[in-house]
Amino acid sequence: MKALGISPLDKDATVSLVEDGRVLFAAGEERFSRRKHHAGFPSRSLQAALEATGVAPGEIDVVAYPFLAWESEAKLINNAVAEEKRFSTTFSRKKLSKLLEQADRRIPNRDLSIPGLLSANQRMAKGPLKRLFYRLAGATQPLSTWFGMRAMRQWAKDAIAFHKKWHEELETELGKLGLLDRLRRSEHHLSHAANSYFASGLERALIVTIDGYGSGLCGSISVGEHGKLKRLHNFEFPHSLGTLYETVTSSLGFHPDRHAGKVVGLAAYGDPDVLSEVLLSRFEQRPGDYSIVENQNIYFSRHLSTRFPMIDLAAAYQHVLEVVARNVVEYWVSNTGIGDVVLSGGVTANVKMNQRIHELDCVDSVFVYPNMGDGGCGTGMGYYVTWPGGVGEPMQTAYLGPQFSEAEIQSELSKANLEYQRPKDLPGMIAAQLMSGKVVARFAGRMEYGPRALGNRSILYHARDPEVNQWLNQRLGRTEFMPFAPVTLWEERHRCYHGLDGAEHSAEFMTITFDCTDWMKQHCPAAVHVDGTARPQLIRREKNPEYYAIVEEFYKLSEVPCLINTSFNMHEEPIVCSPSDAIRAFLDGRIDGLAIGPFYVAHPEPVRARVS
Ligand SMILES: [Fe+2]
Repeated sequence: MKALGISPLDKDATVSLVEDGRVLFAAGEERFSRRKHHAGFPSRSLQAALEATGVAPGEIDVVAYPFLAWESEAKLINNAVAEEKRFSTTFSRKKLSKLLEQADRRIPNRDLSIPGLLSANQRMAKGPLKRLFYRLAGATQPLSTWFGMRAMRQWAKDAIAFHKKWHEELETELGKLGLLDRLRRSEHHLSHAANSYFASGLERALIVTIDGYGSGLCGSISVGEHGKLKRLHNFEFPHSLGTLYETVTSSLGFHPDRHAGKVVGLAAYGDPDVLSEVLLSRFEQRPGDYSIVENQNIYFSRHLSTRFPMIDLAAAYQHVLEVVARNVVEYWVSNTGIGDVVLSGGVTANVKMNQRIHELDCVDSVFVYPNMGDGGCGTGMGYYVTWPGGVGEPMQTAYLGPQFSEAEIQSELSKANLEYQRPKDLPGMIAAQLMSGKVVARFAGRMEYGPRALGNRSILYHARDPEVNQWLNQRLGRTEFMPFAPVTLWEERHRCYHGLDGAEHSAEFMTITFDCTDWMKQHCPAAVHVDGTARPQLIRREKNPEYYAIVEEFYKLSEVPCLINTSFNMHEEPIVCSPSDAIRAFLDGRIDGLAIGPFYVAHPEPVRARVS
């Protein structure tokens, strides 16, 4: 049975072609349209999926979509508005002004310098009138409740309009392809639950989904057992950890949908104790569940962002997210007796939260679905509707996108008038270039599915130089507070990281952080964050032999089994998809070398290599 899984059209529209529980092809539309987080029907990726697999539209048995019809979604959205009203009027609040004054007194004096910030205690700079408004609208009762309710109603209105718009677009486009009669819709969190469970290869697992919003919910707990899913609990919107994190991301001046990772990076510099009590006072925590008051009121985090250091604000939100997520997981592990936990949903892109869940004594293992955001939902539904029954294989690869022939690559190189060579030992040549301090981009094989570059669309560099996090990010037009992530030879993993047991499958896809060993901190300082963690990709030879060979050759030269692996793209652009994207990013980014297919290209205008 063949299913075309289409992820929600509102953001990260993605196509997955799944046959009997096996993913044949999966890729996000943004890679083809070159519009980050593409919204709208994924026509180009669908075309690429059909071309790559040779499947004709007529052979597709089911089109699986992870949202209900818009009228049903509208009812769930209106229920959420009623819940916001109920909770904001019944929740017994602590005196916020007193808690904030106590928090003011906990702000440390600091003289450390943090790359990307003007000073360690930098706050968001706003004029006095704005600051007064934020305080009144966000942190003063009863105005804050009124503004929270107003934001909730506005969100609901917009969300219903969007559901209607995407519902109509989906039906129109499927109609053109003659596939409308095969459309099967489902509740959103089923798709997150399905992708994490079926890809884990586990016989029995506790399934935890956490996201911003989906079909009236922002999370769920299920049990997966022998190929079947059973829902145990729902986390109702508006009590959304995703929304909570989006509001602080926005209030810290970042894009709420794209830059949560910057807040995770920033959090490691701050002191969570400054504001955690303030944040937790807005939660009602119950066994296995929780609620958040005035969660849609963005002026609350706006107020905090102008009053407290950015790093302490980030640290508190990160800490509170971890505390609440751990409490939930701990309860449900104990309730079900299942210590193998699988995670999915946009919030589980938070690699540090995933580490904290993995570290729980009651948790035996953690698997995070590699495309954990809504881009993975089409695959989840594809698995669900075609699953043949029983237990599957653990997900082997995320190299599920398009690939390009040598002839196509050569043609693009010629068009760009680039001189290239075809080395006999390309991995050895790349390793030698990296050893001499060059930055090398690699374009090879099938494109990665999901947000991470895993070697086939990656920029590589040695991990000895911690300054790389400034100068290379600058060259690529990025600002990051988390260091680049390392790729590490599977066999050498224990030399580099602590606490891998039970999370090694996840670590093949860069979805979780680990504490680094002293050896790693000493030899790969560029890949270790200020809190001593890193987010590795553990690479096994059989999963990507040529990529493995690059790291192996570098290991022979340097005795270091790690390289920095960052995504091959320019500022705010999607990761490169085609040879022409790769050549453009290589030239624009002033990257020293491009390994593309079997060819190697030195940059025609080289920048001085850095050796350290
Ligand atoms: Fe979602």
